[in-house]
Amino acid sequence: MSERIKTPRGTFDVLGEAALARAELERTAKGIFERAGYSRIETPTFEATELFARGVGESTDVVQKEMYTFDDGGGGSLTLRPEGTAPVCRAYLEHGMHKLAQPVKLWYLGPYFRAERPQHGRYRQFGQVGVEAIGSDDPAVDAETIVLLAEILEAIKARDLRLRLSSLGTPDTRAGYKAELQGYLREHEGELSQEVRDRIDLNPLRAFDADHPGTRQVMAGAPLLLDRLNDEDREHFETVKALLDAAGLAYEVDPGLVRGLDYYTRTVFEFSSDALGAQSGVGGGGRYDGLIEQLGGPHTPGMGWAAGVERMLLASDPPPTAPPPLDLYVAYAKPEYREQAFRLAADARRAGHAAQLELGGRSVKGLFKQADRAKARYVAILGDEGTALKDMESGEQRTVEIDTVMHHIRR
Ligand code: HAM
Repeated sequence: MSERIKTPRGTFDVLGEAALARAELERTAKGIFERAGYSRIETPTFEATELFARGVGESTDVVQKEMYTFDDGGGGSLTLRPEGTAPVCRAYLEHGMHKLAQPVKLWYLGPYFRAERPQHGRYRQFGQVGVEAIGSDDPAVDAETIVLLAEILEAIKARDLRLRLSSLGTPDTRAGYKAELQGYLREHEGELSQEVRDRIDLNPLRAFDADHPGTRQVMAGAPLLLDRLNDEDREHFETVKALLDAAGLAYEVDPGLVRGLDYYTRTVFEFSSDALGAQSGVGGGGRYDGLIEQLGGPHTPGMGWAAGVERMLLASDPPPTAPPPLDLYVAYAKPEYREQAFRLAADARRAGHAAQLELGGRSVKGLFKQADRAKARYVAILGDEGTALKDMESGEQRTVEIDTVMHHIRR
């Protein structure tokens, strides 16, 4: 026998209860987005590599080592999308969405791809649900999007949640701060981990993320970007916080909050769950006021977030899900009744009933067992004496004309 082929590392099949739980999560999120006036957007699963190189940032782990990049066959380079913000901004520009009422409020759900080392809660193909609100720098946009994610997490009963919040200011503030932080890190180079030392030039902010004890000690005394914000950015951040307070949403200001993508300006935030272990980030995002410009468009502010579908489900106790109830289970006693039975099941479905045909060649005993398992309300068996129709709830059985089955089950 030849060897069986399995799912690639870091991927998984979704079936049975897991499929129902995912569908339920999607339904919950969709309802919350629609009530807030967000419309759905779907973008391709692959894009020009350049989009992520420019959008997400050359210095990020995502672009440096986690992208599935391949040749388009004509000299161009394509990449399986590692995230959704750059693609949505590309679409905003491509479809001239600046002509619509601003901000344009969009939501999405779909598969994303990162060549990471797989572990619990970390996959190479994972689901993200997210929103992007593009075209307004009103701090109420920041607060509203954060509250939407909180609402979804509450609806799915996610456990042990923490919301951390910070502001990164403008690129200018950040550049000045980056130089200051680099100076500070160089002063303490001997106490830092090798990894952090190697990144002083490229991405010194990542030092806040380190687990290395020496590095952590150095970072405890490091200058903070939050203390360097200009007046406008500070006021923006204060308003975001005041609005979250008004919404009754608890958060911690975490000046060391690091996001793995380069496009953020001003507000950044992350929900994590202590129920998840090492990969505790459930969802996060922030403002990206410079991204559209970086993609060749006019200056356009934007704000959004994405949450991992698998991590949301891992962090919640999904309600027991069951397949929808079945109105009618149709079987036949002899092969010559197959066509009629087939038609009855199809007609019943067309009339809006949940109906299934016996497809397994089961005995009478076997098919009743199967109908029971499927929680069928009625079983109809076509035979020489007419159609035996059994009400599975009352146990009552009678013989009826096939044309009247629908009439009976409707009652
Ligand atoms: P991100 O933090 O890179 O942000 O990803 C968002 C969420 O996706 C994470 O919190 C996590 O739950 C999930 N996730 C990321 N990588 C994996 C993985 N390998 N396996 C399982 N889940 C994963 C973004 O992607 C930004 N585009 C969010 C955003 C939208 N910012 C502004 N707008």
